[in-house]
Amino acid sequence: MLGIIGAMSEEISLILENMKNITEVQKGKMVYYTGTLGNQEVVLCKSGEGKVNSAMVATTLIFAFNVTAIVFTGVAGAVFSELELGDIVIGTDFLHHDFDATAIGYKLSEIPNKDEVSLFIADKKLSQQFTDIALELFGDKKVYSGRIVSGDEFVASPVRISQLRETFDAYAVDMESAPVAHVANKCDIPCCVIRAISDKADSVAADTYANFFKEAAKNSAALVVEFTKRHSL
Ligand code: ADE
Repeated sequence: MLGIIGAMSEEISLILENMKNITEVQKGKMVYYTGTLGNQEVVLCKSGEGKVNSAMVATTLIFAFNVTAIVFTGVAGAVFSELELGDIVIGTDFLHHDFDATAIGYKLSEIPNKDEVSLFIADKKLSQQFTDIALELFGDKKVYSGRIVSGDEFVASPVRISQLRETFDAYAVDMESAPVAHVANKCDIPCCVIRAISDKADSVAADTYANFFKEAAKNSAALVVEFTKRHSL
């Protein structure tokens, strides 16, 4: 069973439309949709935005639905300067850009305690399979692989973009990838993240995002739909 998460309705709607034999399962305030997508049994959930929402859903997918892998689909702000609206970023690794224990001697994003991991790596096989499909669907000028950084912050300033680029070598910024990859890492579940660029995280990001996020969300979801036609876990 593959777990699929998107933060907003627009990020999961194309997937839901393509699912068959849907059953709705309510857990607390969240609705999980189980069913078939392509050749794959899946459970899909709209997590809501932000780190706690997405971490909670990832945890539920693992322990209540026994998923064997998690894919996150959605939109992100561009940090890497060559990215254009609609481009696909397949996350190679993820960190919490707002995790700040610098006052007690840690680097920004570093989680205290030597046993903790602070950089969460995407599953290489899944990411490669998604990259191959993305290249076919969108062409090599629109498909990138790189680090995605997450925080409970909608980034909309050139100063913040420079910081994320210089401190973390980030390609894209969002509010959910790192927590989902963090939970997956702790539970030894493979995970990958597909994002389409909805804005450039700059001073006009709010407007760009409002005008473009639906189209970007569709690009990302289309990849998930296509993936399940070709692969099953
Ligand atoms: N998701 C989409 N655009 C974003 C941005 N600029 N900052 C954080 N998350 C985002």
